[in-house]
Amino acid sequence: MFSIEPTGQACGAFVTGIDLRRQQDPDTVADLRAAWLEHNVLVFPDQELDDPQFERFAESIGPIGDDPFIEAMEGKKRIAAIQRRADETGRIFADVWHSDWSFQETPPAGTCLLSVVVPPVGGDTLFSNQHKALEEMPSDMRQRFEGRTALHSARSAYGDDGFYSEEGNKGSMAITTSETARDIRRHPLIRKHPESGRTGLYGGAYVTGFDGVAEAESQELVKELYRWQSRPEFTYTHQWQPNMLVLWDNRSVLHKATGGYEGHDRLLHRLTIADDRSFYC
Ligand code: SIN
Repeated sequence: MFSIEPTGQACGAFVTGIDLRRQQDPDTVADLRAAWLEHNVLVFPDQELDDPQFERFAESIGPIGDDPFIEAMEGKKRIAAIQRRADETGRIFADVWHSDWSFQETPPAGTCLLSVVVPPVGGDTLFSNQHKALEEMPSDMRQRFEGRTALHSARSAYGDDGFYSEEGNKGSMAITTSETARDIRRHPLIRKHPESGRTGLYGGAYVTGFDGVAEAESQELVKELYRWQSRPEFTYTHQWQPNMLVLWDNRSVLHKATGGYEGHDRLLHRLTIADDRSFYC
């Protein structure tokens, strides 16, 4: 049996005493899944995995998800690179609080990142616990958001007129853009986690407004919500070491990349995990 040590911050736990190079038995997978639901972010240090081992671990949690605007690495079928070269100076990829692909009909349950090249400073990934964000929301604020349906869209990032439609903004990331990014999907803002049943906020940077609310008011609500969701007391700051695997639950946390490693390379391998109910505990 593996050991779990909570980070001491608003979410996240370190998992040791497990070798992810091996196929895990069903009881261990069930225990990992329960720990994932409880802590929202699981950090596995010292896991030197090859591609098949990384994919097999991800597939024990759920089927590999569909990544609409990031291509797999050359020579790999499904693993994408989150990468930045030492000489890049543009905006850091994913430096806004978001839940991966929340503009999809059924967004991914989880995401796995495996560190390959870790800069000596900076490059932390931040996570924000959205159960806590809801639990601690003042009641007058909650009233403003109760019953709202959020509109999610990828347009401003991945649309044919979005940020990444300019080649120079892509850096070394294999990003594609498309007019399909203009599509809008609706998800309740306050909702029960489909697997744990715990109530939380589901939103982040892909939220562009609220159903049935006039544009100006909608924009104010979007800003107010984002400010609240990203308050420091809800967050865990993850500092990378080489060969660390991090698995997070997109249904209960937001995450955000950070910079601060100018002049250094950074490379993480990434797989998203589809939300498939047949894998639930
Ligand atoms: C991501 O959002 O997938 C990237 C996170 C990071 O680079 O820290």
